[in-house]
Amino acid sequence: MPRAGRTLITNIGELVTNDPAPDRDGGPLGIIRDAAVRLEDGRITWVGSRASSGAAAAGGDAYRDAADLDTRPASPGATRSPDIVDVGGRAVIPGFVDSHTHLVFGGDRAEEFAARMAGRRYEAGGIRTTVAATRAATDDELRARLAEFVAGLHGQGTTTFEIKSGYGLSVADEERLVRLAREVTAEVTFLGAHVVPAEFAESPDAYVDLVVGEMLDACASHAKWIDAFCERGAFTAEQSRRVLEAGAAVGLGVRVHGNQLGEGDGVRLAVELGAASVDHCTFLSDADVAALAASDTVATLLPGVEFSTRQPYPDARRLIDAGATVALASDCNPGSSFTSSMPFCIAVAVRDMRMTPAEAVWASTAGGAAALRRTDVGVIRPGARADLVLLDAPSHVHLAYRPGVPLVASVWKDGALVA
Ligand code: NIG
Ligand code: FE
Repeated sequence: MPRAGRTLITNIGELVTNDPAPDRDGGPLGIIRDAAVRLEDGRITWVGSRASSGAAAAGGDAYRDAADLDTRPASPGATRSPDIVDVGGRAVIPGFVDSHTHLVFGGDRAEEFAARMAGRRYEAGGIRTTVAATRAATDDELRARLAEFVAGLHGQGTTTFEIKSGYGLSVADEERLVRLAREVTAEVTFLGAHVVPAEFAESPDAYVDLVVGEMLDACASHAKWIDAFCERGAFTAEQSRRVLEAGAAVGLGVRVHGNQLGEGDGVRLAVELGAASVDHCTFLSDADVAALAASDTVATLLPGVEFSTRQPYPDARRLIDAGATVALASDCNPGSSFTSSMPFCIAVAVRDMRMTPAEAVWASTAGGAAALRRTDVGVIRPGARADLVLLDAPSHVHLAYRPGVPLVASVWKDGALVA
């Protein structure tokens, strides 16, 4: 594990802070030009213009020079290696916050994807294929795969990510999925209500009984969130409500999968229950949009899903113009969206969902943080976690302008270089 020391990142041509101020550009992006950022013990401790970083040093706020760094130990008896990183005028943004993934699973569904690209429709029932492969995998196999995914997320600039269970669908299998997810992230979601497993096909309400009873008991201590797939082919509004209320009753925060395959009850239910987020939001009525705009529930859009299922894209413009908070996430899973690339999601959202580059970058950083109700990530300001991405580009706009080009040059997570 790389160690977080003390780092001054300087000569940043464009610093996206997501911390707006009257003297900063870019509206909500709070852009500082010719900027510097200081990281210390995993946190951001100073943000400002490069010119003022010298002046601030005189008052003890930033580093004057390397000699100054050399003389300041981390704690009594410890020595620190100083690090001044000159990024040559390139752009720095907050680490991506991917608020929706399903990364603990066995197998893949490449053939299903190929069949879809040849004209077949996406159906929620495909989840059962992955359930069988996941049940057949050992803990160590799932753990090794997860480690590869996490390295891939870091390499693509994602520094905070949520992981859902939902490919176990038995008490023992759901328990191990949330437990394995908890080994790599604090943002774990119990999604026992992903789909009704084959063995309960004739008695879906009995499966819901299991989810709100023994399964929730086994999973709650590993999870922070509860989720339900409220959609035709998965769970009705009544079944979803039972699951979400049971989770809330034991202290889990609420998230909902809804309105993915058609208009439905997901958004209404999410808003009514005060969910942190309702995810997909592909098919929305005017009442859904108005309800989201009047609520604290974030509308999380998942461009990889529409890309990989050939569905129409959600209309982010309609939501943003109405006043809703929009997040972008990957929904990385083997069925509907096998991408973990937030830059890819940004490019698609800008091209096909009527978002500006600035809105898409905000939605994949600060928006993701809002969807997870986090204030310590998705933002570059003193006190926040030192999670930052250096782009091989002069501006955040290039993330959409140069689709498919690997622009993530370096990634700091908790102050340590992870990519
Ligand atoms: O978020 N919508 C429900 N669950 C996943 C898809 C899972 C799958 O197809 O395996 C999603 O898109
Ligand atoms: Fe999902």
